[in-house]
Amino acid sequence: MTDIAAPAEHDIFSDNERWGDLGAWNRAALDLHAQGGIHRFERGGFQPFWAVIDHAAVLSIEKQPELFTNGPEPVLNTLAAREARGLDIKTLIHMDAPDHHKYRRLTNDWFKPAAIRRLDDRLTELSRQAIATMEAAGGECDFAIDVALPYPLQVILKILGLPEADYDRMMTLTQQLFGGEDPDLQREEMTAEVIAEVLMDFYGYFTGITADRRGAPADDLASLIANGQIDDAPMPDLETLGYYVIIATAGHDTTSSAMAGGMRALIENPDQLAALRADPGLLNNAVEEMIRWTAPVRHFMRTATADTEVCGQSIQAGDWLYLSYKAANLDPKVFDDPLRFDITRPNADRNVSFGYGVHFCLGAQLARNELRSLFGHLVPRLESIELAGEPTTMKTTFVGGHKTLPIRYRLTPR
Ligand code: HEM
Repeated sequence: MTDIAAPAEHDIFSDNERWGDLGAWNRAALDLHAQGGIHRFERGGFQPFWAVIDHAAVLSIEKQPELFTNGPEPVLNTLAAREARGLDIKTLIHMDAPDHHKYRRLTNDWFKPAAIRRLDDRLTELSRQAIATMEAAGGECDFAIDVALPYPLQVILKILGLPEADYDRMMTLTQQLFGGEDPDLQREEMTAEVIAEVLMDFYGYFTGITADRRGAPADDLASLIANGQIDDAPMPDLETLGYYVIIATAGHDTTSSAMAGGMRALIENPDQLAALRADPGLLNNAVEEMIRWTAPVRHFMRTATADTEVCGQSIQAGDWLYLSYKAANLDPKVFDDPLRFDITRPNADRNVSFGYGVHFCLGAQLARNELRSLFGHLVPRLESIELAGEPTTMKTTFVGGHKTLPIRYRLTPR
């Protein structure tokens, strides 16, 4: 194979406008699959990169964290944004061995399936609240804004042990950090200075939380982070901030996007909704299919540390690789008829939406539980549901999903 760049119009990855129409994006991804599992793009303003869309290749790269590192740039940013970066915040996703393991170890057990069962009651409460919100709205609401956005943020407040009074502040901050490229979500133009300002907001806020939890540790993640030891010393300030930021942001828009995208998929595939209503035993697989279908984290980047090969293509040390979780979930070699939303798909759980290997999503089980709880409570109550307007999606290249999802519905009486 050659390393000649693919035509620019095939670049569905780095242009945030292309993410505004997910149907067109999916079709374009399928066309790319027909041409190969890896494609090189050289777009002005970006370091050239290889987009890896082959399912097996994404897993193989993730399984070799020393050959393909997260550092120095784990997310696709323009060269200008990289150069202008102010506060250099370091989170788990920026780290490689040996630091990554040391930092991940601090919270790893907290997220294990048995441990997060203690959140089940809170999830049930939030699912009931979501239905109550829909009841109070009287048959029409915006599912993305009124249900999917608040639910996971309430979960974050709970796991970090933050008061409900801090809800608005956390909402603004997570929206600005992750929705940065979408004009509707911007407080003002997202220059490096503005991003640094948002991070400084967080910094001030979490410095207070750290002091509090060092004085009086509680049974929450904030206490684990505040009192975390790395190499027998307290975690440095910037890394402590990074830890709070990654938990707050990684758990919010991701899960919201899966919820809203999952709801839309059920609305647009009424046979699937009917099947789920008829057989609640399908819930877990339906949630896996929603996660495959939505792939809210669009990508992470890896950098090759030595010359190697991916899908028969030679890759040189220093090359940048874009792992397209969304396109890998549409790989026709793995998923039969991949553009069909099918809650009985036998291998829906082979989706790569949570990544793989040492960086595998820390909150994967929690996110699944949130979706299972919400749809497990809501679907049996849905007598009817339809779109009440044209939904809109975020034009973001990193984490994204629905901005709006207007719905009209009837709920069965309790
Ligand atoms: C549907 C929802 C979610 C999706 C699709 C998702 C996806 C991902 C992906 C793709 C990664 C990178 C994996 C890799 O590089 O192999 C990741 C990492 C991470 N996620 Fe999630 N995530 C979701 C929900 C959550 C939640 C609820 C939390 C916690 C509250 C969370 C916390 C994290 C953390 C801390 C990392 C960094 C792990 C590391 O680098 O070691 N995520 N997530």
